[in-house]
Amino acid sequence: MTDTFQALRVFEEAGKSVARVADVTEDDLSAGEVVIRTAYSSVNYKDALAITGAGKVIRRYPCVAGIDAAGTVVASTDARFKVGDDVIVTSYDLGVAHDGGLAQVVRAKADWVVPLPAGLSLFEAMALGTAGYTAGLAIELAQMNELAPDRGKVLVNGATGGVASLCIDMLSRLGYAVTALTGKMSEAPYLQSLGAAEILDRSKLEMGSRPLEKTLWAGAFDSVGGDQLGWLTRTMQPSGVIASFGNAGGIELKTTVLPFILRGVRLIGVDSGFTPMPLRRKVWQRLATDLKPRHLDAIAHPIALADVPAYCTRMLEGRIRGRAVVTFDR
Ligand SMILES: NC(=O)c1ccc[n+]([C@@H]2O[C@H](COP(=O)([O-])OP(=O)(O)OC[C@H]3O[C@@H](n4cnc5c(N)ncnc54)[C@H](OP(=O)(O)O)[C@@H]3O)[C@@H](O)[C@H]2O)c1
Repeated sequence: MTDTFQALRVFEEAGKSVARVADVTEDDLSAGEVVIRTAYSSVNYKDALAITGAGKVIRRYPCVAGIDAAGTVVASTDARFKVGDDVIVTSYDLGVAHDGGLAQVVRAKADWVVPLPAGLSLFEAMALGTAGYTAGLAIELAQMNELAPDRGKVLVNGATGGVASLCIDMLSRLGYAVTALTGKMSEAPYLQSLGAAEILDRSKLEMGSRPLEKTLWAGAFDSVGGDQLGWLTRTMQPSGVIASFGNAGGIELKTTVLPFILRGVRLIGVDSGFTPMPLRRKVWQRLATDLKPRHLDAIAHPIALADVPAYCTRMLEGRIRGRAVVTFDR
């Protein structure tokens, strides 16, 4: 394919990352066995770090940004994929060391590509994107650790964020009693509409300082980290399960071993980037069936490719809600 197409490319200029929409050809893209005509992409926190340069996540310049894409195969040298297949590609080195998904055409390694599961449209796949995949993976891992609705309340922290909003929707669909912890109380009606039974105001949180505080939660899904993750370890019920997937509020973790050895608290790490493919496919199957959020239309909103950089700045300030989906002309 020699046609020119549009991509959000990140350049290094005077030691800084600068992102702009540029014309590229397929020959400009990183090598891969599967060429995809992109239908939709999305914006994740990692994209915001890459596009603004606020986080040193890009390992090779220039790089087309975007860790997510969904579209249709237009060429493939790998027997697993053929022209016309609808597919999803997320994670791995996309958008950081391999040209990514914020482009009309993506060339990806076949080992990274997931067939679109029945029950999901390409739009829904990107309304979910890495955020939804991470929420689904966190729930799958928590359930492998026996977190069930009858164990008690589950807390979702960073509630208005992409991963957390989707997590609330999925957990409530599964019958969990969800408490949403947010810094934006004005969004309480939105969080309730997604299925949160209770809303906690971060500014009023009393975290205490004892190694073990009153037990509150059977499960916790944390996109914030820092002091709040430490507080969660100290307030989990016996055998409570925490899925830690984010650091929007900091990377420090201060706690003691007491929650782990006296209450059997389980702290599970969630990494969407390099999940082994059988588990990745299982989670995508669940996202198309029992985990499929009921309020994707309320969570996802469209955004133009050219508006992605400004959106990323707002995202890092914690001022957005839900998921931005980029639509490409095909
Ligand atoms: N482990 C993985 O594989 C994986 C995958 C995807 C994302 N992540 C991580 O998960 C986190 C959330 O990602 P996302 O895509 O959902 O991002 P997002 O949409 O920007 O959500 C982040 C949310 O965190 C809350 N927050 C609390 N303290 C904050 C602070 N100091 N600055 C900014 N936000 C703050 C805000 O919600 P409230 O105001 O409602 O609290 C904000 O909306 C990020 O740290 C991201 O890197 C990890």
